[in-house]
Amino acid sequence: MIDILAIESSCDETAAAVIREGRDILSNVVASQVELHRKYGGVFPEAASRQHIRDIAPTIRQAMEVAEREWDDLAAIAVVNGPGLAGSLLVGVNAAKALAAARGLPLLGVNHMEGHIYANWLACDGGPDTPPPFPLVCLIVSGGHTDLVVMHEHLRYERLGQTVDDAAGEAFDKVARLLDLGYPGGPAIQRAAAEGDPQAYAFPRALSVGPYDFSFSGLKTAVLRLVQDMRREQGQEVEAHGQSFADASLAPTGIELPVADIAASFQAALVDALVAKTVQAVEQFDAAEVLVAGGVAANQLLRETLAERSPKPVRFPPIRYCTDNAAMIGAAAYYQYLDGYRSDLDLDVVPNLSIV
Ligand code: KG4
Ligand code: ZN
Repeated sequence: MIDILAIESSCDETAAAVIREGRDILSNVVASQVELHRKYGGVFPEAASRQHIRDIAPTIRQAMEVAEREWDDLAAIAVVNGPGLAGSLLVGVNAAKALAAARGLPLLGVNHMEGHIYANWLACDGGPDTPPPFPLVCLIVSGGHTDLVVMHEHLRYERLGQTVDDAAGEAFDKVARLLDLGYPGGPAIQRAAAEGDPQAYAFPRALSVGPYDFSFSGLKTAVLRLVQDMRREQGQEVEAHGQSFADASLAPTGIELPVADIAASFQAALVDALVAKTVQAVEQFDAAEVLVAGGVAANQLLRETLAERSPKPVRFPPIRYCTDNAAMIGAAAYYQYLDGYRSDLDLDVVPNLSIV
């Protein structure tokens, strides 16, 4: 039995998990900082690293206790070394190195985005019990990334396209701020959209960038312009609050906005663009299945629309493994371990680490 302790601290969750054979979740502990960052309307990097340093040891201890594993039972210690916030990554990487050195265990550096993909290999209640078949088209949609890749075998990726500006999750977060819906924006937009009409506003889909690339800044700006026009109509001084998205989100509210309709129309446009390009890739590369990964994979409309339009079966991780966790890191680490990959104790953090 190969049991791996996995550690994740790339952004605003301190997480540790013990994963058996890349599949069975013996424990999965997540200490979320969402309340800490809510008052900043986004992740405040220095506060994040300081909170990681407080949470890392208790989180790891709890993961080992829940899994009922001793250090000698482990095959390796895996840790995310990028992409992410440097100060946040350092905390997990340092803890993993100290444990690997003290316990004489192999160390595995794992790419956070690869972890998101491998969340689809975790054994979870209600999920399919066969592993995903290759070749796979993977849509990776998180707060910092939007990538479309083909996977012909384990750990090998061919990038088809990516966002040329904002990531999908970032667009959700920024529009949520503009509509005063709070942080994190994705779940807030989804909730607001449930009461709205997705056809109320015809926002752009930006399908004209490269065949498999995405662009969300035009959509985001279209939402901004609509809100500014509504403010003007209601007698507010829009110019006084600036023209840029960042300035506009700080403008005083107090005007009547059809928030549900705007949220629903924005969400529909964004999902439409993601689904159109993914379906096109599935057809061109004759994929056996489609995998969706990252925080935005939790989005209900994306799940339903892709399942409906894809010519091949679509897999999503269960909602709780879509957002950041260490179980997914343990799944990816297992395949690295089998591949013979090992990191040295001089493993460094790489904030812009890429999977291709
Ligand atoms: O993968 P993740 O937890 O962290 C990163 O690696 O970035 O993704 C976080 C992103 C945030 O932008 C958040 O707003 C978005 O995922 N998100 C959602 C939903 N849940 C989380 N976006 C749309 N709909 C959701 N239900
Ligand atoms: Zn993530």
